[in-house]
Amino acid sequence: MIMNNSKDKLAQAQRLVALRHSKGLTAAQLAQAMTEAGAKVSRGAISNWERGTNGIVSSKLPTLARILGCSEGYLLRGDINTDTSANVDNTTPNSKGSHAIQEDNKQAIMKKTDDNTDKSQEAHKKDISQNVTLAVPTETHPTKQQDESQATQVTADSHINSPNKAKDGKTMSELKKSDKLQNVCYDIRGPLLKAANKMEAEGQRILKLNVGNPAPFGFDAPHEILRDVAMNLPDAIGYSDSQGVFSARKAVLQYYQAKGLLSAVDVRDVYLGNGVSELIVMTMQALMSDGDEVLIPMPDYPLWTAAANLAGGTAVHYRCNEEDNWHPDIEDIKSKITSKTKGIVIINPNNPTGALYTDELLEQIIEVAIQHDLVIMADEIYDRVLYDDMTHTPMSTLTDQVLILSYSGLSKSHRIAGFRAGWMMVSGKKQHATDFIEGLDMLASMRLCSNVPGQYAIQTAMGGYQSMKELTSTKGRLFKQRELTISRLNAIPGISCTMPQGAFYCFPKMDPAIYPVENDMEFMMDLLVAEKVLMVQGTGFNWDAPDHFRVVFLPNLDELENAMDRLDRFFAKKRKQYGTDKIKDAQVKDTQASKPETLEA
Ligand SMILES: Cc1ncc(COP(=O)(O)O)c(C=O)c1O
Repeated sequence: MIMNNSKDKLAQAQRLVALRHSKGLTAAQLAQAMTEAGAKVSRGAISNWERGTNGIVSSKLPTLARILGCSEGYLLRGDINTDTSANVDNTTPNSKGSHAIQEDNKQAIMKKTDDNTDKSQEAHKKDISQNVTLAVPTETHPTKQQDESQATQVTADSHINSPNKAKDGKTMSELKKSDKLQNVCYDIRGPLLKAANKMEAEGQRILKLNVGNPAPFGFDAPHEILRDVAMNLPDAIGYSDSQGVFSARKAVLQYYQAKGLLSAVDVRDVYLGNGVSELIVMTMQALMSDGDEVLIPMPDYPLWTAAANLAGGTAVHYRCNEEDNWHPDIEDIKSKITSKTKGIVIINPNNPTGALYTDELLEQIIEVAIQHDLVIMADEIYDRVLYDDMTHTPMSTLTDQVLILSYSGLSKSHRIAGFRAGWMMVSGKKQHATDFIEGLDMLASMRLCSNVPGQYAIQTAMGGYQSMKELTSTKGRLFKQRELTISRLNAIPGISCTMPQGAFYCFPKMDPAIYPVENDMEFMMDLLVAEKVLMVQGTGFNWDAPDHFRVVFLPNLDELENAMDRLDRFFAKKRKQYGTDKIKDAQVKDTQASKPETLEA
């Protein structure tokens, strides 16, 4: 028998999904139950296991099996004959013996197929599973020579190195990714994108509404920036100071000073990075010891969560309320603070919701941070992408009573994401933070410096004419694209979307009464295969229910119209499939009535 590790992982993944469903748990609830039981995992780790991206970690297996009421052997290999009694938790009213679960399992999987009476749907499912299979990172497959005894050692436990024979006959251990990555999940470039890339390689054309990268959508970078970077190239050949070139850091400082920066800062307080991304990872590495917690919005820009978990900390998500224009819920923030909480992340304007926060709300967050001595990390990368004459208030201009780390860069405002030009400024209360700042300096030195040609874009970009204003004004391209996207989404029965006030994203809701979606990634995969539109599912932004998705409205009006036509068709088909097209008149009207007023326009 030849053991196929990739197939094992997928089978393991299917068992896990079915067991979790049979227990009536969401992935987030399962992660929480495991963490409470002493086996810390993130929702992202569960997602990785359920997709077969990672095998279940051996150290978490006993707790997982206990919570799911099955044997470890069943979870790992689908063993039916093992004596499972030792591992079955019969104490909970819901718990079932493993054989019962196995039956539930099979029935759940079979039911899924039976329910699918529509032949074309069936074809889609096949396509999807093909794509998903191919989307799983390539594994080292056992060779033909591998005998059965060897193969049986290749358990689905990804952390037991398993012997493989290479073509030259030498035995090799399978090279596994580090345990540190178990809790890391970054779906913006995850399985859906891999499937889309594969479809593109086969010659299909995909409408991509999935990443906030302006350049491919025809947003030109300001000519002056390109010219200045080119002019400075001869000076940008060697490493720079690890925090960045002086002139660029000074310009960053002056940008915040002109906006009313409250505390005294110096060029030494500014760090240039390979985009904000690198600085987020650096901050989390410098800040978080094992077990420390950081408050991160839900939904979030998922790098924040991934970086906190990668650093050994725990991302604790606070809720942003859709009914309140996606503003952070202050009471929820307060309720989630513990003795381990080190800081709070604010993304303003927000990705993925497009929300812009009021000064009053920011003041409330500052109050909480002062009370609990939290570091505020303000991700303000969209501070210049604003609609409707709105203004943005930088966190650093509102207080000097706590340590504030402000992040921004030129990827969005100046459409030069590829230059990797970002910065972080340290302001506010710093006396108590000398050791942490030393950590930041150490990490900045370890990577020597950020991309030096990109640093030369910064001084030019900080002042002078800002072409983004033109793009977001009522006559501008981004404004028109936002209007079209939001009005078309809100015209779809059972879909509602708040109006973004900044950035170029929106985060529409699918009414669960009309679209009872169980797995939003699968749902988005269906959309990709059926309509060739690529978007990221809401749980990819650490949202805790499978009822949202993110739309990037960077494509031009024609492309957006086209994408919205396809969405219309897809959602109509789904309503039919769910049998909710009939309740349209009664229920959908209710949904429409509760849509925000701004969307009527
Ligand atoms: C909120 C947020 N922060 C940070 C980043 C990373 O930006 P950069 O290109 O500067 O690494 C992004 C990119 O989409 C973002 O949306």
